[in-house]
Amino acid sequence: MALLLVSSILLPLLGVWYLYKSTRPKASHVPLVEFEEGDNSPARYETDTVTVLLGKGYKEYTKKDLPFRIQNPFDPKQPLIVLPFKYLDEVKWAPTSRFSFYDFIDKLGSMTQLGIPLLSHEGAMSARIGLNKALGSKIALMQEACVGTFEKLMPDCTDWTEVAMPYIVIMQVFANMSAWVFVGEEIGSRESEWQKLTLGYVHKVNATLDKVRARYPASLLWLAKYLDSDVKSMAKDRQVAGELLREPLEARLAASKDQLKSERGSRHFEDGVQWLADIYMDKGETLTPDMVQQKLVTLVFASIHSTSSAALTILLDLIAHPEAAEEIRQEVDRVRSANSGPWTRQTLGELRLLDSFMRESARFHAFAQVLSLQRIAQVPWTFSDGFSIPAGATIAFLGYHQGHDPDFHPDPETFDPKRHLRKREAYDGDSQHFRFTSVTDDLLHFGSGVHACPGRFFAQESLKLIMVHLLTNYDFKVAEKDEKVPKMVVRNLVLKANMALPVLFKERKA
Ligand code: HEM
Ligand SMILES: *[C@@H]1O[C@H](CO)[C@@H](O)[C@H](O)[C@H]1NC(C)=O
Ligand SMILES: *[C@@H]1O[C@H](CO)[C@@H](O)[C@H](O)[C@H]1NC(C)=O
Repeated sequence: MALLLVSSILLPLLGVWYLYKSTRPKASHVPLVEFEEGDNSPARYETDTVTVLLGKGYKEYTKKDLPFRIQNPFDPKQPLIVLPFKYLDEVKWAPTSRFSFYDFIDKLGSMTQLGIPLLSHEGAMSARIGLNKALGSKIALMQEACVGTFEKLMPDCTDWTEVAMPYIVIMQVFANMSAWVFVGEEIGSRESEWQKLTLGYVHKVNATLDKVRARYPASLLWLAKYLDSDVKSMAKDRQVAGELLREPLEARLAASKDQLKSERGSRHFEDGVQWLADIYMDKGETLTPDMVQQKLVTLVFASIHSTSSAALTILLDLIAHPEAAEEIRQEVDRVRSANSGPWTRQTLGELRLLDSFMRESARFHAFAQVLSLQRIAQVPWTFSDGFSIPAGATIAFLGYHQGHDPDFHPDPETFDPKRHLRKREAYDGDSQHFRFTSVTDDLLHFGSGVHACPGRFFAQESLKLIMVHLLTNYDFKVAEKDEKVPKMVVRNLVLKANMALPVLFKERKA
């Protein structure tokens, strides 16, 4: 009898319940936003997610302080929940054990599965403390690397000359600037192995990641690091990078010991290898060349595409606003003639119109961060007002749409180069506020809180040096035939400057 009850009634019930559980979307209490007309194909998501789908969610939910959900392109089994800004404080200061940024990056790039080193607390610290403290002493070197690399790579532009992919030039310029800063002169400067290796590695990852993922079923992707020649070749590059770092690391560890002994000895080295050595010596832990390589390669990774695509975005905005470009040239001339010698943080800081222009470019295009503060919930979490989300959910805020919301930024569809300069002057003369690097609740291009981009000051000075070089040496424009080609391209959740748009340059007579 009991057996009959179990098999005929309980088991089917259990089955139905299980089926219901596994097919019911997690976070089904959060409204799902889809395309209205019924076309929810992948192709539609690719072209219309940012403008149509998220535009609708922003209007119908975010503006009413409500969360909503969309199909999660990174992990279809988990919800992607877009939060209204009232939760910003609760998310930005949350510990990684609750809402993890690293877990999000890991899933985005299948990093752990492919054996690619992840961003880490120590890597972020070396930028947040070491890099930011030393930045002032690095500007002259960065300028030398910037000017030297442009001079090497730009064609002769006596007359209007096309550069088919300015992105590639900018990327090499920035890679050179960052190599000097992160790995020091012994291996970072000039035509070094390190530069070739890191640039090649960044290209390799970009070119092969999607291909590798398409080759293996998701559940077997972890095998790729043993079987796949592309994945193994990335590992080989990292191993070579580790070998290049061995001597520099030994030199820094030895110098630091001498310095401790002499107490007031001045520092021999000031670069990424040294900053990591500082962190590990403080913790009393051993640092190996392979660990240095892992941390530095991730920093290279976090910085090259983000800064180069920001630079291209700003360049295309300067082309679209030639009057502003001219006014910035005058600003540069004014600051240059009042100060001799190479640029410094102080003199770069006096380029306030350029700074405001760069911040406006970030507001207008969000620098590819349509979704901001993306995190994965590590535990089920209930917000202070009772709203709850399941563990595994991805959360994010709509930074791009916020940038175009008249309640945050009046007249948002006007690209106004002086918008932030006026705010800055009105605030209290020459404030630290409303700068390119200022993290505020109404502009999230550098994230916010615990993980706010620690490289943003370095990015700012690099971008200014790049823009100053281009503005003072060239006139630039887009060819007439290309005027209709979109300057920005959108694909799924990413909105980026169009790398395939050629730019024409012509040398300016001094
Ligand atoms: C214009 C260029 C850049 C943009 C737009 C940018 C943007 C961002 C954003 C949005 C985040 C995530 C913040 C969050 O979710 O709260 C981030 C994190 C990070 N960025 Fe940048 N970034 C740029 C340049 C750089 C550079 C040059 C470096 C190199 C030093 C860098 C290193 C990092 C690191 C290490 C993190 C992780 C921070 C952590 O682990 O706490 N970024 N960046
Ligand atoms: C990096 O910059 C230096 C100094 O301007 C230059 O000599 C070198 O050729 C550059 N390296 C590369 C790979 O462009
Ligand atoms: C990254 O890869 C894509 C697709 O393979 C390619 O179209 C794009 O040009 C690459 N980007 C860079 C900067 O090489």
